[in-house]
Amino acid sequence: MVRLFIAGTGHVGLVYAVAFALDGHRVVGADIDAGTVAAVNRGEVPFHEPGLPEALKKARRTKRARFSTDIAESAKAAEVIFLCVGTPSRPDGSVDLSQVSAAAKTVGEGMGSAPGYQVVVVKSTVLPGTTQGVVRPALEKASGKDAGPDFGLCVNPEFLREGSALEDALRPDRLVIGAMDERSAKALLKVYARTKCKRMVTALRTAEMIKYATNAFLATKVSFANELANLCDAFGSLNVDEVVEGMGLDPRINPRFLKAGLGFGGSCFPKDVRALLAGGRERGYESRVLRAVLELNDYQPMRAVELAAEAAGPLEGKEVAILGLSFKGGSDDVRESRAIPLAKVLLERGAAVRGFDPEANEAFRRAVPEVEIAPDVKTALARADVCIVHNDWPQWRDLTAADFAEMRRKVVIDGRRILNRAALEGIEFVTLGG
Ligand code: UGA
Repeated sequence: MVRLFIAGTGHVGLVYAVAFALDGHRVVGADIDAGTVAAVNRGEVPFHEPGLPEALKKARRTKRARFSTDIAESAKAAEVIFLCVGTPSRPDGSVDLSQVSAAAKTVGEGMGSAPGYQVVVVKSTVLPGTTQGVVRPALEKASGKDAGPDFGLCVNPEFLREGSALEDALRPDRLVIGAMDERSAKALLKVYARTKCKRMVTALRTAEMIKYATNAFLATKVSFANELANLCDAFGSLNVDEVVEGMGLDPRINPRFLKAGLGFGGSCFPKDVRALLAGGRERGYESRVLRAVLELNDYQPMRAVELAAEAAGPLEGKEVAILGLSFKGGSDDVRESRAIPLAKVLLERGAAVRGFDPEANEAFRRAVPEVEIAPDVKTALARADVCIVHNDWPQWRDLTAADFAEMRRKVVIDGRRILNRAALEGIEFVTLGG
C-alpha cells in the first residue's frame, strides 16, 4: 500500500484515483473545482465513463479513496503525487501549461512541510523538457526543497481511451516511466507492483515524447485510412474496409485504428498533434507529416458535405439530420467532435440542421446552439432531406429502412461505415470509402 495524491479529478485523475484505490493503495484526489469534488464525494461521476460510477462507489466503501479541494494539505501527506491536470491548446496550437504550473506550485507548497522523501509524477501530456524545465523549478521554488535529494520526479503518460478508461487503467498493456533517477523510478514502480504488463523505464523527456509520438502515430493511421477511403471513392468500386483488412494481414501494419470516417476528435488527438507540430515549429522544424494529418482531418467533415450535396443537390433550404454528435460512440464528449465543423458548414450552406446523440445532446447544444437537438432518432429524421451518420454508436448498426421512413428524401451518408446496408432497402445510400 502506498499513500497517493492525485491533483486533478477529470477524465484521467478520477479514473486513476479509483483504479489505484481498487489496487489497494490509499488515495486522495483533489481538484480546484469544488462542484466536481462535492459530486465525486457523493459517489457521482460528472462525465460518461462505463463502469466508473460503480467502481467509485466500491472504492469509497473500502475507505481507500477520498476527495478534497485542499491540494497543498493533501500533497503533504502523500508518498507519491500524480499531476493529472489538463494541457489544453492555445489558439496557435501550442500547449497551455497554466494548469500544470499552478498545480505544481500548490503541490510544492504542501511538499514544503512534508517530513520525508516524495515523488511527483507528471501524468499530464507535456512536451519534452517540460517536467525538467517547468515542473521541477515550480516545485523547488514552492517547496524550498531540491529535486534529487529531497524529492523525486517521474513522467508516466496515460494511454486511457474514453469509454474503456477504467479497464485501461486497471489492466494497461504497457507502462512507460520516465525518471530523473533510480530512486524516483523505484518509488513509482512500487505503485504498479501488482500491474502485470510490459514496462519501460527511460529519461523524463523520452517518456514525454513517447506519449506525443503514440497519439500522433495513431492520428496519422486514422488520417491515412481516411485518405484511402477518399482514394477508393475516386477510383470507384472499392471498399476501404476490405482494402484495410487486406493491408492489415501484414503484421507490420495491423488493421487496428484504420477505420475510415469523418476524422478524429476528442480531447487528445487533435490537441496533441497540434502541440507537437507547434513545438517543432518553435524549435525551427516544420513537420510536413503532422501538417498533412491535420489538414486531412479538417477536410473529412467537408467531404460528407460534398457527398450530401452531390446526392441531394444544393443544401440551401434543405433539412439535414446528423446522427451522432459526440467525438466517438460510447462517449458524451463533444470536445473537437467533427460534428461541430460539419454542422457549422451545413448551416453556412443554408441548411437547417437537426442532431441527435444518445449521450451528447446537451453538450452539443452548448457547442453549436443553432443546431436543433432532437429527442430521438425518429424526430431527428422526420422531414429530413439528408441524414449524415457522424459517429460510431453501436446502435446505428440496428437502424433499418423503417427508421428512415419519415425522411422527405431518403439520402443517407454513412460517415462511419457503420450502417447495415442490407437492412436499408429503398434508401439512397452513400458510404464514404465505397
Ligand atoms: C486517445 C488514445 O486512443 C488513448 O490511448 C490516449 O490515452 C488518449 O487519446 C489520451 O491521450 O488521453 P480517446 O481520445 O479516448 O483516446 O479516443 P480514441 O478511441 O483514440 O479515438 C480518437 C478519435 O479517432 C475518435 O474521434 C475516433 O472516432 C477516431 N478513430 C479512431 C477513427 O476515426 N478511426 C479509428 O480507427 C480509430
